[in-house]
Amino acid sequence: MEENGIYGGYTGALQYVLDDLTQKITEYSEKEKQETGIKLVEHLIARIKEEDSMREKCRRREIPETPYSALRELNDAIGIRVVCGFQDDIYRNVELIKSLPGVEVVKEKDYVKNVKPNGYRSYHMILLVEAPFKDIDGNNPGKFFAEIQLRTIAMDSWAALEHQLRYKKNIGNNALIEAELKRCADEMASTDVSMQTIRDLIREDS
Ligand code: GTP
Ligand code: MG
Repeated sequence: MEENGIYGGYTGALQYVLDDLTQKITEYSEKEKQETGIKLVEHLIARIKEEDSMREKCRRREIPETPYSALRELNDAIGIRVVCGFQDDIYRNVELIKSLPGVEVVKEKDYVKNVKPNGYRSYHMILLVEAPFKDIDGNNPGKFFAEIQLRTIAMDSWAALEHQLRYKKNIGNNALIEAELKRCADEMASTDVSMQTIRDLIREDS
């Protein structure tokens, strides 16, 4: 049965990589917490992209609905969202993820520094992760793509609400609504800066 799905026989391998990455992130954040007192990960969401969403994305990209498309042409079958308390934590997480064994960063987008025109902020990384499974090219150990999104709580709130609004109605070209959403994103970013400053002040003090 599983062989017929969009992920072919690779669902087990994908789940392994997802769990393994999640565990490694949890481990380094616990270590960092002990060493510095900083909670690097406020919370984390890990998912394998649903069959239907993956098929929909293949159609949108005009590529065949095959395991090869899902595992090689696209790179977000495995997705982890790391939600942080403060902006600096995003960059510390990026540093630590880059140093994980068996993990290679193949693409990076810093939408925190290079804010998208609509106000979206987040740090995106595409990883190639080695795992003890045969991959679709026949390599064993195999290599599997994973998308990591790192955001503050404020960035995550904005993205969640913007996504909800965007998918409810076709607001794509309503200039007023777009401007208002952008304003909210910028206000939330300004609060992030203030919260970061407050934490820095407290830490200097102690
Ligand atoms: P995708 O085809 O969506 O993968 O686009 P891409 O390959 O150009 O990647 P990008 O890094 O721009 O975006 C990947 C993911 O980031 C999306 O699937 C969303 O989860 C998130 N994202 C990007 N832009 C926005 C945005 O404007 N609003 C929200 N809510 N999420 C976004
Ligand atoms: Mg993408």
